Amino acid sequence: MGNHDVMDKTDKLIERWQFSSSAKNLKPSFIRTMLKGSSQPGVINFAGGLPAPELFPVEDIKKSCVSVLDKYGRESLQYSLSIGVPLLRELISERVSSDRHSFSPEEIQITGGSQQALDIIGRILIERGAVVLTEEPTYLGAIQAFSFYHARFASVKTDHNGMLPDDLEAKIKKYNPSFIYVVPDFQNPAGYTWSEERREALVNLAVKYDIPVVDDNPYRELRFSGQEPTSLLAMGGQHVIQLGTFSKLISPGLRIGWIVGDPEIIALCERMKQAADLHTNTFTQYVIHEFAKDGGLDRHIAKIRKAYSIRRDTMIKALRDNFGADATWTEPEGGLFLWIKLPDGTSANDMIQAALEARVAYVPGMYFFSERPDDSTLRLNFCNATEENIVEGVKRLAGVFKNAK
Ligand SMILES: Cc1ncc(COP(=O)(O)O)c(C=O)c1O
Repeated sequence: MGNHDVMDKTDKLIERWQFSSSAKNLKPSFIRTMLKGSSQPGVINFAGGLPAPELFPVEDIKKSCVSVLDKYGRESLQYSLSIGVPLLRELISERVSSDRHSFSPEEIQITGGSQQALDIIGRILIERGAVVLTEEPTYLGAIQAFSFYHARFASVKTDHNGMLPDDLEAKIKKYNPSFIYVVPDFQNPAGYTWSEERREALVNLAVKYDIPVVDDNPYRELRFSGQEPTSLLAMGGQHVIQLGTFSKLISPGLRIGWIVGDPEIIALCERMKQAADLHTNTFTQYVIHEFAKDGGLDRHIAKIRKAYSIRRDTMIKALRDNFGADATWTEPEGGLFLWIKLPDGTSANDMIQAALEARVAYVPGMYFFSERPDDSTLRLNFCNATEENIVEGVKRLAGVFKNAK
C-alpha cells in the first residue's frame, strides 16, 4: 500500500474518532517524506541530516557491546534511572564543563536523541499559545516539536553572526516569550556560527528579562577550521539550557542525547522523562560510555572532522565552479550543512521535482522558517556524499537551476 493510500485512510479515521487536536494538526515532516524520495537508487542525497555511514565506528561499537555485557552484564539490561546512567552523565558533565563553568552529573538529563530533548523542553516550557522566539531560518524539527504544544513563533532578524540584538529586545518586549530557541554553532540549516558579541548580547538580554535560552547544539564539536567562540552554556549560567547529542558525533541510530541545565530545571526534565518513557535505553547508554571513555570519542571525532572538512571544501569548490554569480552560499567552519541563496523570485520548492528527476536531492529552505518563508533558499548536506558524488551532484543541481531560469 502506498504512503498516500495510508494518509487518505488516516484522514478518514480522523473524521470518525475523537482524536486530540494535536494529532489532527501534526503535519508529516517534509524532510522525512523527502528522505524517502532521496533514498532511491542513483539519487545523490544532499537532503537529509544524515552523517556519513562509512565513518560509523562499527567494529569499535561491536567491541563496546561485548565489553559492556562482560563488565556490567544484567545491570546493562535492567531498568535504570530516569535521569540517565550515572557513568554516562559523568562523562558528559566532564565534556561540557569549561574553565568558566563546571557541571555535575546532576545537571545532565539523558534523552532519546536531542529531538526528545526538544519535546521535553516543549512539555515543560510551552503553555498553549506561548511564544517562542527563533532565528530566521531555524531548525525544522524544533518547529515541529514545539508546535505540538501549541507554541506560537516569532522570528528574530538574523544575519551570519546570529540574532540582531535590537530586534531581539524589541521582540522580547512585544511577545514576553517563554524562551529563546537558538542553534548557535554551525546552525541547522544555515551553517553559520554566532559571534562572541552576539552571544554576549543574547545572554545579557536573557538575564535582563529573566528568559531562558534553549541552546540546541549538535554540531559544536564538529569544527574544521577557525576560532571557537565561547559556548552559550559557559556564558549564560542559569539562563542557558543546552541540548546535546551523539547523533552526529557517533551515530544517530543509537538515539542518545542529553539536556544540560541547573539542577532545578533538570528535576523538571526528569519528571517529564519519567512520564514519557521511564528512561532512555540502558544498554545503549553503557555502550556509548564504553566507546567514548579514555579518549575513544575524541579520536573518532578527529577522524570525522577531517573527512567532513574535505567534503565541505569539495562542495564549495563545486559551487564556485558551477553556480558562479547566480547564487550565494555560506561557507561554514564546521557542522554538516551549507545554505544557498538563489536570486529573489526563484522557487527552490518548485524545482524539487525536477531535481529528483535529475537524481539529486536537497531541502528547500522555506521549510525552515517559523514565520516568513524565503523560498529562494535551500539547504545542502555536504557530509553524506562521497567527493565524487558531491562534484556530480552539484553539477546536476546547477543544471536544474539553469533550466528553471
Ligand atoms: C539543530 C538540531 N537539533 C536536534 C536534532 C535532532 O538530533 P537527534 O538525532 O539527536 O534527535 C538535529 C538533527 O539534525 C538538529 O540539527
